[in-house]
Amino acid sequence: VGTINDVREIVRMSHDIGAHTVVDAVHYAAHGPIDIQELDTDFLLCSAYKFFGPHIGVLYAKKDVLSGLRPFNLRTQQQCPPFMMETGTLHHEGIAGAASAVEFIADIGRKFGEKPVGRDGERKAGRRDRIVAGLKVFEKYEQVLTTHLIEAVRSEVPKAAVFGPPEGHPRTSTVSFTLDGYSAKEVAGYLGSRGLFVWDGHFYAIRLVERLGLLERGGLVRVGIAPYNTREELDRLIAALKAEDDLKRYVHRS
Ligand SMILES: Cc1ncc(COP(=O)(O)O)c(C=O)c1O
Repeated sequence: VGTINDVREIVRMSHDIGAHTVVDAVHYAAHGPIDIQELDTDFLLCSAYKFFGPHIGVLYAKKDVLSGLRPFNLRTQQQCPPFMMETGTLHHEGIAGAASAVEFIADIGRKFGEKPVGRDGERKAGRRDRIVAGLKVFEKYEQVLTTHLIEAVRSEVPKAAVFGPPEGHPRTSTVSFTLDGYSAKEVAGYLGSRGLFVWDGHFYAIRLVERLGLLERGGLVRVGIAPYNTREELDRLIAALKAEDDLKRYVHRS
């Protein structure tokens, strides 16, 4: 539902009781910068296709923690990081594509970002600064669209209930809602028939959707706003949600 949790604090609490932490950053990685040293997590996972890359997973692990693991693999595999996790021939084209996606983000930072200041306060910006600046450009652009969408759905679509963090709480541009009288699948199918691609279900936040009592009902409709989306597209979405007769017709037909 777009909530940005205080991961740093969760990691701290977990470490306090001796647990290792694994952060699923698949959703967030496309929306804002992640400072892995600041988070201090033992593991973090994300998927390059979420940030304009190809289908390849990314695992960050603290070397000493990873060294202590004994994953199942062949004896032929070197039993030390990173090889203990990187079995056989690697997905080289995927790795190259993921690196290019990162370069693309850095390029956005160079062209449109605020003049980055290096960590030590110098004006000379490094690659990391450009990547952070690029992600901040996306974040700023997406937040404006997100506020517009949430406000419009709340005020113009009375049957809709938007789920997410309270106003003012840090959030991504992922907007989730239900529409009274219709399943999430019906709404997503209807919007799809109008050329508006949204998704329905639990989006891997299965525990949350369960606690909201929505799992049996097929979950939520999710609108994932990306940097290439426009206000005009969101207005088309809002207009489609307001046209309930069209939605009814779609549901009866299918
Ligand atoms: C929070 C979260 N975790 C995991 C996944 C699954 O990632 P993948 O599609 O790379 O298997 C997704 C995909 O949307 C996700 O949003």
